[in-house]
Amino acid sequence: MDRPQFHFTPNRGWINDPNGLVYFANEYHLFYQHDPYSAVGGGDRMHWGHATSHNLVDWQEQPVALAPDDLGTIWSGSAVVDWHDTSGFFGGKAGLVACYTQWQPARQVQSLAYSTDNGHTWIKYAENPIITAPELTVFRDPKVWWHASTDRWVLVVTIGQSVRFYTSPNLREWQAAGEFGTGHGAQAGVWECPDLFPLSIASNEAAERWVLLISTNGPTGSQMEYFIGDFDGEQFTSDYPAATVLPFDYGRDCYAAVTWSDIPATDRRRLAIGWMNNWQYARALPGDQWRGAMTIPRSLQLAERPTGLRLIQQPIAELAARRGIAHHYPARTITPEATAEPDLDGKALEIVITLTTNDAAESGLRVRTDATRGATIGYDWTTECLFIERSEAVPPVANFAGRQEAPLAPTNGSVTLQIFLDYSSIEIIADAGAVVLSALVFLAPHDGTTFYSKGGATTISALEVYPLTAES
Ligand code: FRU
Repeated sequence: MDRPQFHFTPNRGWINDPNGLVYFANEYHLFYQHDPYSAVGGGDRMHWGHATSHNLVDWQEQPVALAPDDLGTIWSGSAVVDWHDTSGFFGGKAGLVACYTQWQPARQVQSLAYSTDNGHTWIKYAENPIITAPELTVFRDPKVWWHASTDRWVLVVTIGQSVRFYTSPNLREWQAAGEFGTGHGAQAGVWECPDLFPLSIASNEAAERWVLLISTNGPTGSQMEYFIGDFDGEQFTSDYPAATVLPFDYGRDCYAAVTWSDIPATDRRRLAIGWMNNWQYARALPGDQWRGAMTIPRSLQLAERPTGLRLIQQPIAELAARRGIAHHYPARTITPEATAEPDLDGKALEIVITLTTNDAAESGLRVRTDATRGATIGYDWTTECLFIERSEAVPPVANFAGRQEAPLAPTNGSVTLQIFLDYSSIEIIADAGAVVLSALVFLAPHDGTTFYSKGGATTISALEVYPLTAES
């Protein structure tokens, strides 16, 4: 894999899920599932790796935070600021507490660790594990938050194809509460990496609904979905019929995304990051020194769309720090015979493009091309679908090829796409962030960009391109 320029990757070794996302003492922390000794990964090798940042874009790798012990390897989980020392770990001051799953072949339990130096080193709690459920084979990925209206901590873990909530006054002793999920949403695969948080509605910031993020891993690979509803401190109820599945990302490579805890109240954003990969092929992808990347960080909100209330994702504004000089291109019309190839080659680009149909059946871009290979970012005007076609961008790996598509209705005959192209990936944001498509591509060293229109003409009515740099 060609090392991405503006996505987080480990210097060495393997990564999967983001863990312990928290902001404290002027630092954003990104912990992650990590095999520091090889790029192989696997449940029996997991540690928490660690990186810190001042802007969510430039990351500094730190020493490994948590290593396996007698209770098992260190699987996914979360971290919070214990502002009022409810845990008693901090002598009355504020400190960080992490809660994570420990894995053994036949047992998953939840454990705690705390840090008295702002997240840089961790002490495992002497009374671990803090929660067990011997009857469950899937019992993992605790996400903890302070629930202000009931004045206590809440934790959500996955239990098979559903989640269970626990409550606690002190982060150490937990009481089981409600469950949610049986028969709801995607049920083909096991549920992993839950997150639950209140989110404001873009047009009406005073209104809030609760959003539950779930990652599901099953026969068709790794996918994410979300639920919108209400949470009373013990029980989540969905606003939608049980069969509704709301995809978080329509691409194949966004998994285990969860959100940062304790973002300052003045910021008000809910920020998420995911693992840009899919268990169906993650371990088989090229890479010997390192393997795995995170998505770009995204800011989440809810918005009313024609189909109802939806989660919207926007790239964080901080990414603009990586922009080189902007290129604005004049509008142009392309036809099947006459395609345009303005000078916008590059392997790391942000492209903001508006396509307006004249009578085209399909139009779009070819990115990372040379004469023979490339990836297609296309829009099908007849089926109203946005797609990425990466069958020429395939490593020798099973289940990787293929088209990934998302429903996307045009607005007044146009669609606008914000595209983040990096050395090994494409992320597309459309429909004000209600449609996101993330996909890995393997096309080193191709760097060409072209446009195409099939079955008629397309006007490129707006086009802005920024080269994206490796450092701010
Ligand atoms: C999700 C996941 C989690 C687990 C971790 C192990 O990708 O399977 O459920 O905690 O990865 O690395």
